[in-house]
Amino acid sequence: MSDLISSVMPTYARFPLTLTKGEGSYVWDDQGKKYLDYTAGIATCNLGHRPIEVETAVKNQLNQLWHCSNLYTIPNQEQLADLLTSHSAFDQVYFSNSGAEANEAAIKLARRYAQKVKNIDQYEIVTFKQSFHGRTLATLSATGQEKVQVGFAPKMPGFRYLPFNDITALSHLVKPETCAVMLELIQGEGGVNPADQAWIDQLVSICREHDLLMIIDEIQTGMGRTGTLFAYQQYGFEPDIVTLAKGLGSGFPIGATLAKAHVAKAFTVGAHGSTFGGNPLATAAGLATFKEIVEPHFLTRVQKKIDYFWQQLEQVCAQAKVVEEVRGKGFLIGIEVKGQALDYVNQAREKHQLLLLVAGPKVIRVLPPLTTSRAEMDQVINHLSQLLT
Ligand SMILES: Cc1ncc(COP(=O)(O)O)c(C=O)c1O
Repeated sequence: MSDLISSVMPTYARFPLTLTKGEGSYVWDDQGKKYLDYTAGIATCNLGHRPIEVETAVKNQLNQLWHCSNLYTIPNQEQLADLLTSHSAFDQVYFSNSGAEANEAAIKLARRYAQKVKNIDQYEIVTFKQSFHGRTLATLSATGQEKVQVGFAPKMPGFRYLPFNDITALSHLVKPETCAVMLELIQGEGGVNPADQAWIDQLVSICREHDLLMIIDEIQTGMGRTGTLFAYQQYGFEPDIVTLAKGLGSGFPIGATLAKAHVAKAFTVGAHGSTFGGNPLATAAGLATFKEIVEPHFLTRVQKKIDYFWQQLEQVCAQAKVVEEVRGKGFLIGIEVKGQALDYVNQAREKHQLLLLVAGPKVIRVLPPLTTSRAEMDQVINHLSQLLT
C-alpha cells in the first residue's frame, strides 16, 4: 500500500478546487459553487466554456468518425488548413496535438529548411530570456527560463538565449550556424511582457538581411486573444512560421504549425508525423472555433470590449498603491504587484468567486474569454478594485 495522496504524479501546483461544469464565462465546482473564469483555461477557452457551435460540430463528428489515421485525407483538416491560410500570411499547415508539439514541428521545420532546402549546415535557433515554448526536451531547451530545465540535463543543443527587448544585444544574433529566431510577441508565462515595436523592427531587419527564419509562437497570443486574429498583425511584419494551439480547439487538444510555402516545402513525405495530429474530432473543434472568430464583426466587438476593460482597469490600478505596472495587449493582461501575485489570486477565488492566474511570482494574469459581457467586466473591475486598493 502506498501513502501517496493521489495516483497522479504531482507535477502541478493545483488550486484547491475541483471543477465539474462550465458554461460561457462560468465554471462550477463539485460543491455547485459558481466562479467567473477569467483564466479561460489558460487562454484556451477563448469562446468561453462549451461554445454551442463547437459543441455541435464535435457532437456531429462523434456520430461520423472519431479517429482516422493520417494515411487518409481528413476533410476537416483540409478545411481548417484552408481557413487558417486564407486568414493569415501562410500557405500550409502541419497539425499536431498541443503547443509543445506545434513548436517542436516549427523547430524541426526550421532546421530542415536550412539543411534540405537551403543546403547549409545550420541548426541554431535563437530564443529569448523569460520565454516559454513548452515542456518537451526540445521546447524546454528553447525556453529561456532555467526553472523548466532543472534536472533534465543535458539540454538539447542548438539554442541560444538573448535578452528580450534589448536592441543592443541583437548585434550578437547572427552566427554562421544560426537558422532562425523563435519568440512570443507578448511573453505569457514569463510575466506578460510585450515586445517593443522598435526592437521587433530591428529584429525583423536583421533576420531579413541574414536570411534567418522568424518563428512566432502564438500559442497564447493567437486566436483573437490580443484583439487581432494573430498578434503579429499588430507589429507590421510577416513571420515565416507561426505556431498555434490553446484557443484553436476551444479546449479540444490541437496544435498547428503554419508556414510560408517556400519553408513548408522542407516537410516532404516522411519528414514528420503524428498518430493523432489533425484528427477528425480535434479539427472539427478547430474548424468551428475558427469560423466563429473570423465571423464579420466578432473581432471588432472583442476590440471594443478590450478598450473598455483596459480603460476601467487602468483607472483602478492608478489608484492602487500595490500595483507596480499593468501591461500586456488585448485580453492578455498582467498586473505586476508589490506583494505575492498568488495571494491576490487566492483572495479573488475565495472572496469573490473570481478565477485569475499568475505569471511568475509578482504578476497577476487576467485572461478573459473573448465572449465576456459588459456586466461581467464591470463585476471583475469591481472585484479587482476591492482586492488592489
Ligand atoms: C507561448 C506558449 N508556447 C507553448 C506552450 C506550450 O503549450 P502546451 O502546454 O499545449 O504544450 C504554452 C503553454 O502555456 C505557451 O503559453
